[in-house]
Amino acid sequence: MKIPLKIALIKQWKVKMLEVLKLITAGESHGEKLTGILEGMPANLKISYERLKDYLKRRSKFKGRSKRQKLEEDEFKITSGVENGITTGAPIACEIENKSKTKPIKPVYVPRPGHADFSGFLKYGFNDIRPVMERASARETAMRTLLGGIASELPISLGVKLFGFTQRIGDMEDEEKEILEYDEEFEKIRNSSDFYFIDKEKDKEAQEILKRAYEKKETLGGAVCVYAFNVPPGLGSYVHFEKRIDLKIAGVMLSIPSVKGIEIGSAIEISKKYGKETVDEIFIEGNKIKRKTNYQGGIEGGMTDGNPIKVKLYIKPIPTQLKPVNSVNLKEKKEEKTKYLRSDVCVVPAVSVIAEVFLGLILCDAILQKFGSDNFYEIREGYKNYLQKIRWV
Ligand SMILES: Cc1cc2nc3c(=O)[nH]c(=O)nc-3n(C[C@H](O)[C@H](O)[C@H](O)COP(=O)(O)O)c2cc1C
Repeated sequence: MKIPLKIALIKQWKVKMLEVLKLITAGESHGEKLTGILEGMPANLKISYERLKDYLKRRSKFKGRSKRQKLEEDEFKITSGVENGITTGAPIACEIENKSKTKPIKPVYVPRPGHADFSGFLKYGFNDIRPVMERASARETAMRTLLGGIASELPISLGVKLFGFTQRIGDMEDEEKEILEYDEEFEKIRNSSDFYFIDKEKDKEAQEILKRAYEKKETLGGAVCVYAFNVPPGLGSYVHFEKRIDLKIAGVMLSIPSVKGIEIGSAIEISKKYGKETVDEIFIEGNKIKRKTNYQGGIEGGMTDGNPIKVKLYIKPIPTQLKPVNSVNLKEKKEEKTKYLRSDVCVVPAVSVIAEVFLGLILCDAILQKFGSDNFYEIREGYKNYLQKIRWV
């Protein structure tokens, strides 16, 4: 059958965030468990369970979260696709049990502004907002963190360093440290910070801001930064708009609930300057090609350029309000205030963890695309040869 031109064009414009991998999650906030499948990972890749545990722990344990997090000691199971800690090339299936599995039965008719409640209820024709709240809940990000963490094992095994941290909570100063190389020291500081800052001074200030928010019954947003160091040039592509790696990174980052903005490199700052001040000039130092600046955030022409990838995310304050706000009872079609539901006050640090593994996920997919194989050893070989050929090592 001949496809009409208009439909053919729409098909061509279907933008995929992942070219090689497939990732799917299922599960509700108060369901029995979260289930996830990651398909397309090569065989023979060693998986660090410790690192995966650490991602899940960091996603849920920090100051500013609700009491539910005490329930959410996220224990996970990898039920297929990994044997004795090594991938088999088969789809990787995972489970995370919910500790809080009693679904509330009282129907909800008053949507919380800032959530999926209003449009989800209307769109799916439900009689109750509960099903929207259950699936739209960010609880699902626990599974995506796990699957993203598993995918991140590929770039990490090839020497890439992924590093996410909290940049700012609420209206704190937003001055940034320019980081051009991976530094273990930053990781140590972040891991000892209650909020995952890389500046020891910021913890106290954040504590104060959070305390003030609690007293005022308010919620907070903020910003996080995520880096990938030791990334070679040439991942992603300029040949087709949908192959650009910046597009894919932006897509996954904006899929994190509460992320409302993304900045790659110093986008905001350079948009105010003359061009000459904003290009990352290229030098030779010893026998290595170097850049002394990273305004472009490691991406030029939709491809990695060898500089660290730098992404900053802007996170809105938690939408569930402790104080009632104006809304409408959708069943009775009359104005009604929202009721308070248990909620976090600030989830900015969690976003830094989710974003870290999501950057790893996109890099994993881009590596598989370029060095594509079903066998990690062959990928490693191809990767090494490429680095030598472009004289990157
Ligand atoms: C890890 C994490 C936990 C969250 N916890 C809450 C919460 O307890 N209460 C809340 O109102 N929003 C929470 N959010 C934000 C909402 O899920 C999100 O704002 C909402 O689903 C609407 O999506 P949008 O902000 O992307 O438009 C959380 C987000 C993340 C990433």
